[in-house]
Amino acid sequence: MSIHTPPPPGIPRKITVPDIAAHKRAHGAVPLVALTAYTALTAKLLDDHVDLILVGDSLGMVLYGFEDTLSVTLEMMIAHGQAVMRGARRPCVIVDMPFGSYQESPQMAFRNAARIIKEVGCDGVKLEGGVEMAETISYLVKRGIPVLAHIGLMPQSVHIAGGFRSRGREAAEAETILQDAHAVADAGAFAVVVEGTVEPLGRRITEALSIPTIGIGASPACDGQILVMEDIAGLFTDFKPRFVKRYLELGKGIGDAAKAYAEDVRAGRFPTLEHCFGIEKSTPHD
Ligand code: KIV
Repeated sequence: MSIHTPPPPGIPRKITVPDIAAHKRAHGAVPLVALTAYTALTAKLLDDHVDLILVGDSLGMVLYGFEDTLSVTLEMMIAHGQAVMRGARRPCVIVDMPFGSYQESPQMAFRNAARIIKEVGCDGVKLEGGVEMAETISYLVKRGIPVLAHIGLMPQSVHIAGGFRSRGREAAEAETILQDAHAVADAGAFAVVVEGTVEPLGRRITEALSIPTIGIGASPACDGQILVMEDIAGLFTDFKPRFVKRYLELGKGIGDAAKAYAEDVRAGRFPTLEHCFGIEKSTPHD
């Protein structure tokens, strides 16, 4: 199907980077909805409900049990990006550039971002950083790679920041983050994730920029919201940041299911003959 052919009836149109870039609430848009996904199964479950899927490097903590995101590799991001692309049809899909894959130079960033785009087939990449990453963002965008920026609390800088604390409480820090916001927008980022800032700053950034802000622990005023899927589903329970709302207790549900299964097997209640092949069914309607 060419990009000029409308999708067949019943198949919603794919959401593109320009669709996201145009999505400012000040222009009357409802907030953008974004969630993370790391697998084909999750992407398929989210497909009808979100505008943007982020294959976040949070997968290092959520799936692999690392203490932070710093150990995540390009190969992991590509493998999980490919899995997500097998499940996602409608949302815009963005893949995180992991720590060490883009900070050294714009050229290095281009080589690694091009690998992600070519090998995953996603819509764009996300990278963390403000003023210091503006040159790199501009370099990528001018060469055809859409960039979602990420400012405020930047998990890849956890050691410099001394932990996962909220940002912008002091006027000087708030000013620096506002400058970061302007720098990434001027460099050509199509949208920016604003993480863990005090609320008035998230609001101020949203009002100041012409590109959409996607908040996580930032402000209800942001042009969109993103959370980690495993957080809202109650699957990742190591800790619960203040900005997470849990909609399900899936972790408890899985634990309960495993317990019931173990009890059934140990008591000889599972499997029964109905779970076996080559057994006549008891009634013709079974
Ligand atoms: O890695 C990630 O999942 C993220 C989001 C939480 C914004 O960067």
